[in-house]
Amino acid sequence: MNLITIDGPSGSGKGTVCHILAKKLGWHLLDSGALYRLLAYSALQTETALDNEAALVELALNLNIEFVSNGTGVDSFLDGENVGDKLRTENVAHAASKVASLVPVRDALLARQKAFYQMPGLIADGRDMGTVVFPEAPVKIFLDASANERAKRRFEQLQNKGFNVNIAEILSDIEDRDLRDRTRLVAPLKAASDALEIDSTSLSIDEVVMKVLDQVKLKLNIVV
Ligand code: DC
Repeated sequence: MNLITIDGPSGSGKGTVCHILAKKLGWHLLDSGALYRLLAYSALQTETALDNEAALVELALNLNIEFVSNGTGVDSFLDGENVGDKLRTENVAHAASKVASLVPVRDALLARQKAFYQMPGLIADGRDMGTVVFPEAPVKIFLDASANERAKRRFEQLQNKGFNVNIAEILSDIEDRDLRDRTRLVAPLKAASDALEIDSTSLSIDEVVMKVLDQVKLKLNIVV
């Protein structure tokens, strides 16, 4: 089965690595975080309370979404509108983390995520891809990096976009979020027992990609 799961915290380089792999292999890509963000965005738009499980489940089951590759990444469409940029705001990130903590909501998104597995193959990016959504995946990676390094990456990213940011605040946000993600009861952020753990703190993106491709060769006998 041509399936690679890559789980880990934000700032680990997951997203970029997944895009490069999807391109190199010519496989589909599931950005499961975007799915949670789309649901959160839709909840905010429809003024659905972020703790109203029944309404959120209904919304999750009926989300009219589409992901379209654009060369460097994937555009997210909701009801035909490209909402990619709107999903990246702090407000949506916060709401996404709230809805992602609800079991019925996660269950409602499960079948949707599984449906992304199609030939010729899938790279699944998230927090629980290897543990919950695709436990049968032959190649599982858990990509991590130190909180300091992830804060530095985020700081540089925001600075390049022209934002005036404070690295100490970013680090503190990352540490808070890590604690919440790793200790939450439902689908906590953790490596699957059969995942290869890669620490990207002092690795380049290309070095991480090479390590994953080594696994693809080893487990799937595919060489790119
Ligand atoms: O990776 P991201 O920042 O786009 O994820 C958005 C939110 O969704 C974040 O709070 C983590 C959560 N999430 C999750 O709980 N499970 C996933 N498989 C992916 C994301």
